[in-house]
Amino acid sequence: MFVVLMGPPGAGKGTQAEKLCKEFGLIHVATGDIFRNAVKEGTEMGKKAKAYMDKGELVPDEIVLGIVKERLSKADCANGVVLDGFPRTIQQAEALDQVLEDLKMKINMVIILDINEDEVIDRLTGRRVCSNCGATYHIKYNPPKVRNICDYCSGELQQRSDDTIETVKDRIKIYNNLIPPLIDYYEQKGLFQKANGSNLIDCVFAEIDSFLQKKVYIE
Ligand code: AP5
Ligand code: MG
Ligand code: ZN
Repeated sequence: MFVVLMGPPGAGKGTQAEKLCKEFGLIHVATGDIFRNAVKEGTEMGKKAKAYMDKGELVPDEIVLGIVKERLSKADCANGVVLDGFPRTIQQAEALDQVLEDLKMKINMVIILDINEDEVIDRLTGRRVCSNCGATYHIKYNPPKVRNICDYCSGELQQRSDDTIETVKDRIKIYNNLIPPLIDYYEQKGLFQKANGSNLIDCVFAEIDSFLQKKVYIE
């Protein structure tokens, strides 16, 4: 199964992707996470990407496309993938189609997590991420058992450097400009589904799960 999760910053793509991976044994491929790991490791690519990410801008395709191709070509992805944060433009969607054709893979469903702007700001300013394993929390909606400590690995929780109100607003603006043609692109292919991202985490997951169950039944 190959699922693409789309939606504005803070819509819950990473949160739902983690749940999908646990439930269906899929591999989580998130371009944002790949960049953040590269920043942490201090690689050249990480340094280049950080300059864009801290401004809330898209990292240029010359960097992104190669990374996605390389990651999807790894053997583990043959088990199925949840793609999170890619594609964000029509050019990226077309490049993805080419990569998947070469790998003899295909997208089964593209799911957008629909949510309004006010909720997104509340979610991102309260988000905390484990500095060790990357698990995501929210101080109100999904708190760790012990304050500031990761439930899974006891790592320290941190805020993402692009989760300031100004950067979040810029990220939302860019998303709103780019998303309409992408929705058309996947609607025309009959792959598009919309889930209510404002619901509780488990309710959002139940809706996504119902889409996938129906799809499996039909196919
Ligand atoms: P990326 O890392 O993809 O960030 P994003 O798209 O802005 O999305 P987020 O990760 O902020 O949100 P999310 O939807 O994953 O929400 P989460 O589950 O964490 O990209 C970052 C940057 O990298 C970009 O700005 C760009 O510079 C670069 N980049 C990445 N991909 C690129 C590409 N393809 N091309 C070019 N550049 C690229 O949830 C948010 C919070 O809400 C958490 O605290 C969570 O616990 C909580 N929460 C989640 N669901 C719920 C719920 N249902 N109810 C209550 N709280 C919830
Ligand atoms: Mg994310
Ligand atoms: Zn952790």
